[in-house]
Amino acid sequence: MGLPTQVVTNADLAERIDTSDEWIRSRTGIAERRIVDARETTASLAITAARQALQRADADPRQVDLIIVATATPDYPLASTACLVQDAIGAVNAGAFDLGAGCSGFVYALVMGHRSIASGESELVLVIGADTLSRMVDWDDRATCVLFGDGAGAVLLRATEGSAGIHGTLLGSDGSGSQMLYVPAGGSARPASAETVANKEHALRMDGRQVYRFATQTMADACERVAERAGLPVDEIHHFVPHQANQRIIAQAAKRLQVDESRFVCNLERYGNTSAASVPIALCEAAEEGRFRPGDHIILVGFGAGLTWAAALLQWGETELARPVPWWHSLGRKALYGWARVRSRSRRTRRSIAQWLWRLLVPLTGLRD
Ligand code: UT7
Repeated sequence: MGLPTQVVTNADLAERIDTSDEWIRSRTGIAERRIVDARETTASLAITAARQALQRADADPRQVDLIIVATATPDYPLASTACLVQDAIGAVNAGAFDLGAGCSGFVYALVMGHRSIASGESELVLVIGADTLSRMVDWDDRATCVLFGDGAGAVLLRATEGSAGIHGTLLGSDGSGSQMLYVPAGGSARPASAETVANKEHALRMDGRQVYRFATQTMADACERVAERAGLPVDEIHHFVPHQANQRIIAQAAKRLQVDESRFVCNLERYGNTSAASVPIALCEAAEEGRFRPGDHIILVGFGAGLTWAAALLQWGETELARPVPWWHSLGRKALYGWARVRSRSRRTRRSIAQWLWRLLVPLTGLRD
């Protein structure tokens, strides 16, 4: 996980805008959230999460075949955040791309990673959900700014034999609802201008009630359908790891599915809605707390902008988290990250020198590109 250290409580927000701890807690279940400082970005959180996943799995970044970063808040519109992660961890043999499916993004990315492994294309896939929605909300809009937090979570998928792994997947979308949760400007439809900035059109807009209705219907449906695809009744699911948007949405899903709410992993009280990061952060925390046992069936389920929804049913394997990682492996990985930094800088310097030499030589030789 990559979590900013800065904690912003409901009371902190109530000092700035017309809201209260009581309103936020009772309507959402959120008590506090983590917010990035000026030096942190989506990529920096994603890199922390990626390094932690590699450490836990005791894996060599050079063996990673594919990196997928699910995010709605990339560091730059172009290039991808996945490439920044690839460079920082020294994954020199990996393909890398960002995936945009709003808050469903991590589960979408997990499904893509799984399919890449199932097709034989990849052996080791790093799947990350990372977002810094604090950079995209209007901090004067109490209907949205109290809901979101920043963070990143990562998992490493590996090709294995045996029953552990992903047994069922479901992806869905309904673009007719795209304007229920969106950022109006900054894309090709409405490029950035002084006017779009003045109108706060680069901030997230949401029709909360409509999204709420969509979410309560979709979450339970997606769980039922993915369980059906995997050939399992819902009451045989040991844990649900839902997108952490609102405790009431989670409670409604549990009620519809007729399962006890305690089977749902919830941490939104501490982090708020971290968008594409919410499912992997909840998954990683629950795994670290030892909540999952080998053989347990777990459903990951997300919904969000697009509109999109996604679910994956997996069976938990013998966990590697408990196995101590030899110190020299950790040291080796740290050395690799240092080497990756040097490699990246030297490649940039080489390119600058080559360009400088080219500019110098062209007038002398009369050569052109
Ligand atoms: O990742 C997916 C993204 N989003 C979601 O999943 C969000 C889904 N929607 C929700 O979770 C809920 O709709 C919200 C939490 C956003 C809002 O809860 P609600 O119970 O639907 O409230 P509401 O929008 O119907 O607003 C009720 C009242 C309004 O006042 P009036 O018109 O009744 O006088 C709002 O102006 O609460 C007011 N209000 C607030 N009051 C204090 C809205 N935001 C706040 C606030 N503090 N932060």
